[in-house]
Order: sequence, then structure tokens, then C-alpha cells
Amino acid sequence: MTVSDLDSIKDILYTDFDDFWSYNIFKSELENENSKYIVAKLNNEIIGFGGIWQVIDEAHITNIVTKKNFRNLGIGSLLLENLINICKNSNKINSITLEVNEDNVIAQKLYEKFDFKVIGKRKNYYNGKAAIIMTLYFNY
Ligand SMILES: CC(C)(COP(=O)(O)OP(=O)(O)OC[C@H]1O[C@@H](n2cnc3c(N)ncnc32)[C@H](O)[C@@H]1OP(=O)(O)O)[C@@H](O)C(=O)NCCC(=O)NCCS
Repeated sequence: MTVSDLDSIKDILYTDFDDFWSYNIFKSELENENSKYIVAKLNNEIIGFGGIWQVIDEAHITNIVTKKNFRNLGIGSLLLENLINICKNSNKINSITLEVNEDNVIAQKLYEKFDFKVIGKRKNYYNGKAAIIMTLYFNY
């Protein structure tokens, strides 16, 4: 994902994707050398994106979002599969961790599909709601 990709969805970030970071925070993420963001495109239209932070031998999934009218069509799986492959191919990363809202059952199903396991919980992480911590360990 490039800044020009982000610019092309700037005006529909909140309406067509989901409520998360502001444009400026997202832009600084793209410029952070420890981050990597990918997009899913259909005929040049961005229909999803996702990203990781890498810290030494660990990756952290910061976001995976599919455009609202393209959900449940396999795009989230495609994005997650690609992020996992990027991590595996780095030959440096041993595990991928993420936090997901305890109420976000669909996202939890997505992660479970790729063998992420629940390893803990952070209370009151999202305005009173707990975060489920899920991790995928690689066996080299
Ligand atoms: C979570 C999200 C990225 C999933 O994207 P998606 O493109 O719909 O994902 P997929 O179509 O690949 O579905 C992946 C799995 O999620 C589950 N799922 C998806 N939509 C579902 C629905 N409407 N009802 C029940 N389960 C559903 C299924 O288990 C599915 O696996 P399957 O393909 O074997 O059925 C998407 O719902 C989204 O953008 N949500 C808002 C942002 C968000 O919550 N991101 C996660 C932050 S931690």
C-alpha cells in the first residue's frame, strides 16, 4: 500500500471501510519502516487492506479491513494469507499476534481459520470491551 493508494480511499475510509485510524495516523504508518501494508484490488478499486508491524522476530497485525460491500467473499482471507506469507518469507519472524474485540466474532473466525490461537485477554481495551489476544506461531 502506498500513500497514493491511501489518498485514493481517503474520502471513503470511514464510510466504506471501517472506523479506525485517522488519515494522518494511517499516513505515518505507511512511512514507518517497521510497518508493511498491502491492498486487495479489483479492477483498480481498493477493496481491502491490511498491515503488520514488525518488532525483532515478532509481527503484529494492526489492521485487516474489507470494503463493506465486498465482505464475506474471501477478501479478508486473501489479505491475511498474504500477510502470513510475507512474515514466513521474511525468515526472521517467529510469530504473529493481534488483538481483536471480544464482540468481533467474524474477525475471530477469520483468524481461527488460519490457526491463530487465543493466548490471552486484555480487559477494557476497547471502550469497556475486552481484547482477545490471538497468536500464530511458525514452526521452522
Ligand atoms: C473481519 C473482516 C476483515 C473479514 O473480511 P472478509 O473479507 O469478510 O473475510 P472472508 O470473506 O475471507 O471471511 C473469512 C471468515 O470470516 C467468517 N465470516 C465472514 N463473514 C461472515 C459473516 N457474515 N457471518 C459469519 N462469519 C463470517 C467466516 O468464518 C469466513 O471463513 P469462510 O470463508 O471459511 O466462511 C471484515 O469483516 C471487516 O473488514 N470487518 C471490519 C474490520 C475488522 O473488524 N477488522 C478486524 C480487526 S481485528
